[in-house]
Amino acid sequence: MDTITELLRGALEEVRSLGDGATASYIPELAQADPERLALSVVGPRGRVRSVGDEDAEFTIQSMSKPFVLALALVEHGRDAVFAKVGAEPSGEPFNAISLEADTGRPANPLINAGAIATTALIGGDDVDARTARIVELLSAFAGRSLWIDESVYASESSTGDRNRALAHLMRSYGVIDVSVDLAVETYFRQCSALVTVRDLAVMASTLAFGGWNPVTGERVVGESVARDVLSIMASCGMYDYSGQWMLRVGLPAKSGVSGGIIAVAPSQFGVAAFSPRLDEHGNSVRAVAIVEQLSERLGMHLL
Ligand code: DON
Repeated sequence: MDTITELLRGALEEVRSLGDGATASYIPELAQADPERLALSVVGPRGRVRSVGDEDAEFTIQSMSKPFVLALALVEHGRDAVFAKVGAEPSGEPFNAISLEADTGRPANPLINAGAIATTALIGGDDVDARTARIVELLSAFAGRSLWIDESVYASESSTGDRNRALAHLMRSYGVIDVSVDLAVETYFRQCSALVTVRDLAVMASTLAFGGWNPVTGERVVGESVARDVLSIMASCGMYDYSGQWMLRVGLPAKSGVSGGIIAVAPSQFGVAAFSPRLDEHGNSVRAVAIVEQLSERLGMHLL
């Protein structure tokens, strides 16, 4: 075992006993996740993947898809067109809050639910399948392997997704979304239901860390300016109403998801991903937050 793997293992064991939090309950399929799962993965500049814990456990990507779909929207439309539809400011509110600008109906940023639905609505394609295919193709290029969708989580999301539908209806009434509500939200539910492991997420994070170039496959996935724009938004908005505290303590652009994963990016150094299903009151994983915080401190990764 090399020193970094040893360090990862140490960090993992240190947070293992944290017992707080609960698995997300508003999506029935997510409530069934094994709450004790714990995994950590790091990918460095030469594409070496180091993972510890439940590294093969699959879970749905959930909100960690949002930065990558933002990247796709930026590739397809450019920065000005995307940020005409969605803001770039932290909302300071929970992930599922309305958080729309009073006059325009523009959501605060692309990483809260409203903003992510508006961003997904920008992706080209005639129907849900065509749009989802484009998104999954990009997620797969970031991950360096073909990803697919967990149909039962998707069905569970869709059957309990009234709040997201309501957000989409509101945004459509303002003209922020100009496709049908169904097309926007069903594509969004499918993107959230893509299955990943902590290793996939670390490779995805590392692709952002190295300016859009995947260090494992050697493929350029997006341009440097797209990667930088995505990381800028992650730095201020990635952890919902914990984003400020996170920047203070961890100092890295990051994104969490209700399945219990977190990706964090140390630019030009590492992509990091942690996974543990129990969540705190912000919808962020209790143990994943703790482990990335600890790692950032031990490896001196705070950007400031
Ligand atoms: O919109 C939802 O409810 C989910 N499919 C994704 C939300 C999510 O991951 C929020 N993260 N903490």
